[in-house]
Amino acid sequence: MVDVILGLQWGDEGKGKIVDYFAKDYDVVARFQGGPNAGHTLYVQDKKVVLHQIPSGIFHEHKINLIGNGVVLDPVTLAREYKSVEQFGLDPSKNLYISDRTHLILPTHRALDKANELAKGNEKIGSTLKGIGPAYMDKTGRNGLRVGDLLDKTFTTQYIKLRMKHQRLLDNFNFQEDITSWEEDFFEAVEFLKKLKIVHGEYFINEHIQQGKKVLAEGAQGSMLDVDFGTFPFVTSSSTISAGVCSGLGIAPQKIKEVLGVTKAYCTRVGSGPFPTELHDDTGELIRKTGSEFGATTGRPRRCGWMDLVALKYACMINGVTKIVMTKADILDVLDELQVCYAYRVNETETQQVPYQMQRSQPEPLYKSFDGWKQPSDTIKSYDALPEKMKTYIQYLNDYLNVPLKYISNGPGRDQLITH
Ligand code: GDP
Ligand code: IMO
Ligand code: MG
Repeated sequence: MVDVILGLQWGDEGKGKIVDYFAKDYDVVARFQGGPNAGHTLYVQDKKVVLHQIPSGIFHEHKINLIGNGVVLDPVTLAREYKSVEQFGLDPSKNLYISDRTHLILPTHRALDKANELAKGNEKIGSTLKGIGPAYMDKTGRNGLRVGDLLDKTFTTQYIKLRMKHQRLLDNFNFQEDITSWEEDFFEAVEFLKKLKIVHGEYFINEHIQQGKKVLAEGAQGSMLDVDFGTFPFVTSSSTISAGVCSGLGIAPQKIKEVLGVTKAYCTRVGSGPFPTELHDDTGELIRKTGSEFGATTGRPRRCGWMDLVALKYACMINGVTKIVMTKADILDVLDELQVCYAYRVNETETQQVPYQMQRSQPEPLYKSFDGWKQPSDTIKSYDALPEKMKTYIQYLNDYLNVPLKYISNGPGRDQLITH
């Protein structure tokens, strides 16, 4: 049996905290897509940790953590992160597994990401520059190298061949940066990676499922960054939705039971692209400051805005969300009033559908206002004890989306989660 936790907005919904919270109820935690563009924050022994490549179940010693075939893996980030986990007195070599079909991010993928973005100028995606797009292009273009290739004696030859192909592209971009040190780090990290548990991920996970073990699939990014259904072209390069779990791990759709969708109580986005409910005023600034809305991977300020129910309902539909987790409700404690977008106006017409091309159609958000609850909520332990005005807000979202808003997270800590 497989349950899924994934983001319903533009990423950074708090997936890391939620996966860490629920990991205790599962035997295996598996990442199925994305790569080091992800930054999942957890608090362990009151210390903040940000994971980019390793699944967020790694701090539960007896849980298996699998990096699935749908992920793109940068060995350098992995090695660095592995060492940071060791600093908590843990030994990830015992419970971290990597699929041999996982594609590798090479130093030249990172260089190509940078060159591509520079060439786009004003139209840049705002990529994290971790090499995600070029690595997935080599996967679908059938050129990429995979973790399993590291174990083959031809690896270096294959690497050099692909590197030369990349160099020609970089020359076209007139990319001048010296990446020698990136390559040194890469080959050092590759030696480290080769010593880890490399498995046939699809057999590995299906054997666990057959034995009755419980699997939790951990999404990265968010549904509005999905390569098919997000705000294309301002998206990432992987399938971030529940369908991606099947192809990203090698499991059949009927094995998936619950799909827990994570949303913030408001909305944020990093990088470029449309964001209808974005706030450019003092309220946006207040949310950014109160919510510490700065990227966990790049440190960039996150764009902040109101909850967008049109986009959220769309994400619930695409993913088949069975339960919603709402995070960062506590950040709204300071506001006098909050707004929720219930429809868009596009070309003088009101609609509750996400347009095909959001950038071009420039939807105008239509809002419903709610009174702020103006009281601290971060120490509350039960749904009943939440401020009445927060409950009114939650009930409206619940009714609009027609999916139970089952969990309310009211702080970054492991214990700050209320069940409804
Ligand atoms: P992810 O990428 O979805 O895992 O999210 P990030 O880790 O990038 O960003 C979420 C941020 O919000 C992190 O700093 C979390 O520690 C923090 N966070 C998560 N849930 C809550 C919450 O309910 N309240 C508050 N105040 N912070 C939260
Ligand atoms: P987590 O898992 C927020 C955004 C980037 C950029 C676009 C493409 O922490 O929620 P890419 O590097 O994938 O080519 O960037 O996607 N992006 C994220 N935004 N959270 C993330 O991950 C993101 N991963 C990528 O900012 O706009
Ligand atoms: Mg993040």
